[in-house]
Amino acid sequence: MDSILVKGGGALNGEIPIAGAKNACLTLMPATLLSDEPLTLTNAPRLSDIRTMTELLGSLGAEVTKLQDGQVLAMSSHDLSTHRAEYDIVRKMRASILVLGPLLARHGQAEVSLPGGCAIGARPVDLHLRGLEALGAELELKDGYVHAEARGGLKGAEFEFPFVSVGATENILMAATLAKGTTVLRNAAREPEIVDLAQCLRKMGAQIEGEGTDTITIQGVERLHGATHPVVTDRIELGTYMLAPAITGGTVECLGGRMDLVAAFAEKLDAAGVSVEETARGLKVSRKNGRISGVDVTTEPFPGFPTDLQAQMMALLCTADGVSVLEEKIFENRFMHAPELTRMGAQIEVHGGTATVTGVERLKGAPVMATDLRASVSLILAALAAEGETVVSRVYHLDRGYERVEEKLGACGAHIERISS
Ligand code: EPZ
Repeated sequence: MDSILVKGGGALNGEIPIAGAKNACLTLMPATLLSDEPLTLTNAPRLSDIRTMTELLGSLGAEVTKLQDGQVLAMSSHDLSTHRAEYDIVRKMRASILVLGPLLARHGQAEVSLPGGCAIGARPVDLHLRGLEALGAELELKDGYVHAEARGGLKGAEFEFPFVSVGATENILMAATLAKGTTVLRNAAREPEIVDLAQCLRKMGAQIEGEGTDTITIQGVERLHGATHPVVTDRIELGTYMLAPAITGGTVECLGGRMDLVAAFAEKLDAAGVSVEETARGLKVSRKNGRISGVDVTTEPFPGFPTDLQAQMMALLCTADGVSVLEEKIFENRFMHAPELTRMGAQIEVHGGTATVTGVERLKGAPVMATDLRASVSLILAALAAEGETVVSRVYHLDRGYERVEEKLGACGAHIERISS
């Protein structure tokens, strides 16, 4: 298992290109199952999660051809060989559940292994299943698989999500594009990845209105045709790299960054003493002056503060002047980075979904362990500002969501290298 060695202390200066969004790509790829014509994605990120989704689609008989070093994915699901998504692939990545809606909508049946939980929580898929049942699917849970049928096809319906779910919104949105009649989704997720998916589906011939708001209306159509679509910029990678100059001092321009993707996050950074300037090429970030001030953070569905940036923001606040309270309202166990940051000298008290951080002058490098994707990158950020050396182990978590992290940070002056073992 690889580790990453960081020698902390220097300010970061330079430019970081922001890639296409992992969480958009992971829902755009299953959309190929909705049509027998080719769907091509450009600006795709080169990540292990994308390779896992490629493997899953391949196991169903779809073709995914990587072009331009993986930045273009040419996909076709003209000849599917099965509608069964096997556990040994699904267990690697929860987003695998996103093949369920498209398979059911186009083929009238699907068997998808339940994804199981993950480090940050149980992460059930009950809303995905209830939404598909609302569209007329007959579901049965048997030996760890969801067996779904929609004889005569899915039927449009009104469905209100009891709470916001990104994945369930994506699954039902995709399924509804081929359902007979009109579907209205209420309390739908508003994330930019949903907007990106809707825009791609519309290019394929879907009739969708309201994406980005809490009510999405879909008129089902007979079939969808092929399309080419660029994956939207990754707002979580963007927010992560905006923190590199914030935590170390210096100035970094995040190329391709868009303020509308990170408005709530940028507002919090501003309150903490970090300036975010829109430029012709992206977002330029630097400290306003001196030390970072402590701020309180509560994670919420978009457009609120993203849960996927909570761990990274905690790293910044560990060396802020003052006390910060972070409330994690989306997942039940998303503070596993806290004990690792404490090993580096941070002062953090966790009680249930609330973490109280008392800023210290300086963190100290130490051997730490990555526990999940966003926790791993928060440790890298902390290490950049810490005194001395930090070794972050189990960086396979990191590679799921961040391409070439040591190259991108190294290009801005970080002393960072991967240790293969
Ligand atoms: C997506 O996960 C993202 N993953 C997550 O990013 C992100 O943290 C999350 O949305 C919230 O923004 C992808 O897009 C691949 P949810 P998802 O359904 O869809 C509960 C990362 O780091 N829930 O919005 O699984 C769930 O347990 C990852 O890139 C149910 O109870 O998130 C959670 O507590 C981590 N039943 C809450 O709702 C369901 O049927 C929000 O989950 C579905 C969800």
